Amino acid sequence: MTQTYISDIAKHLGESITIKGWLYNKRSSGKLAFLEVRDGTGLIQGVASKKDVSGQTWEDCEKVTQESSIIVTGVPREHPKKPGVYELDVTSLEVVQLAHDYPITPKEHGVEFLMDHRHLWLRSRRQHAILRVRHTIIKAVRDFFDNNGFTLCDTPIFTPAACEGTTTLFEVDYFDDEKAYLTQSGQLYNEATAAAFGKVYCFGPTFRAEKSKTRRHLTEFWMVEPEVAYAKLDDVMTLAENFISYIVGRVLETRKDELAILERDVSKLESIVPPFPRLQYDDAVKMLHQAHAEGILENKFEYGGDLGAPDETYISSQYDKPVMVHRYPAAVKAFYMETDPANPDLALCVDVLAPEGYGEIIGGGERASSLDLLLQRIQAHNLPPEAFDWYLDLRKYGSVPHAGFGMGIERAVTWICGIEHVRETIPFARMLYRLKP
Ligand code: 4AD
Ligand code: MG
Repeated sequence: MTQTYISDIAKHLGESITIKGWLYNKRSSGKLAFLEVRDGTGLIQGVASKKDVSGQTWEDCEKVTQESSIIVTGVPREHPKKPGVYELDVTSLEVVQLAHDYPITPKEHGVEFLMDHRHLWLRSRRQHAILRVRHTIIKAVRDFFDNNGFTLCDTPIFTPAACEGTTTLFEVDYFDDEKAYLTQSGQLYNEATAAAFGKVYCFGPTFRAEKSKTRRHLTEFWMVEPEVAYAKLDDVMTLAENFISYIVGRVLETRKDELAILERDVSKLESIVPPFPRLQYDDAVKMLHQAHAEGILENKFEYGGDLGAPDETYISSQYDKPVMVHRYPAAVKAFYMETDPANPDLALCVDVLAPEGYGEIIGGGERASSLDLLLQRIQAHNLPPEAFDWYLDLRKYGSVPHAGFGMGIERAVTWICGIEHVRETIPFARMLYRLKP
């Protein structure tokens, strides 16, 4: 009884095959039972006819319940009316374990209930589609960097200090009263490996003690971060637009079925090709002021501040491609930013805002390469200089201009899938009020 996967069914039409999986859904007319079976690779409708199967199999068809584990043998054929859709004429059924009162029924459930049952919710068709798109995006991310001369240099998760501001640090007890912090970004270590290897990337879990309960924030998320020695801000903007276009292209190529399940408007994704619009912060502010004057935005944006979620939503909804907002005031950005020689109050940084109102998916820019500037910044940000001695070494021994960025995988998946909330883009989301399951 070798196992055939539903994804391979088209190669086995007319043969007797066995599927090992679970019952997704069932209908029965008393003479015919329609068993929707899933095996992780897909779904297929099995049709069992009382007069054609053994008494035992018919009895099992009658009693089998949603999400029972089952082994089904039968002969697949194309659906009489739907080309490309297959059905299985069931010849026998074995119930491996009969499930009792599966909590997630085909009726509507509230999202908190579903998140509490995330370990089971993952079995649903929609979750399947989203997580497969995630898988494809991650593969495309790795392929993009691997094929473009980048070396993977993963960075530590326990770190001695903040990278992205002290307000979102998770502190943990290390040994002998020492404190460690869960990494907020691998960037500082990327800068060391970029000085060693030229073009590098890291990709791993990242932690932010974000007290914000929004549809964009997780406390644990996955970030991919490239870093390039001798690159300038413009170089990483070009890298970002090629990178994003590549991963979107890959999803369009290989995940059409999943995008259809998600009812994603793929024409919106098809227009994601370089170049992307580049918008200086000052011009973004003008756009926001204009929108406020027209009554579209309630609050008047104050020049000098960081863009908030509603501002990003507004700006990004003005474009059908991701927009790259660059040169924010240095005062609202992280300590390591290089300043603009044309105006030292501005940082050579970029945020990439996804279209359709999705907001920031990438943050990055050029790094301060002068030792003096960095020392000044570390002080101004009240960071402990002793934790950064190794980082400062990079400015003492062969400092060069360099730049990079970080993309949050879950934000990218949310946008590409066209869904409402990041919580569905990671198998087990960690959020302000969510640590279980
Ligand atoms: O803009 P951020 O904070 O940039 C950095 O961490 C840089 N050190 C990266 C670099 O230059 N190497 O974060 C980068 C991206 C954001 O654009 C967003 O996609 C994601 O990480 N991100 C989050 N995703 C989910 N939940 C959160 N709480 C996130 N915070 C940031
Ligand atoms: Mg950012």
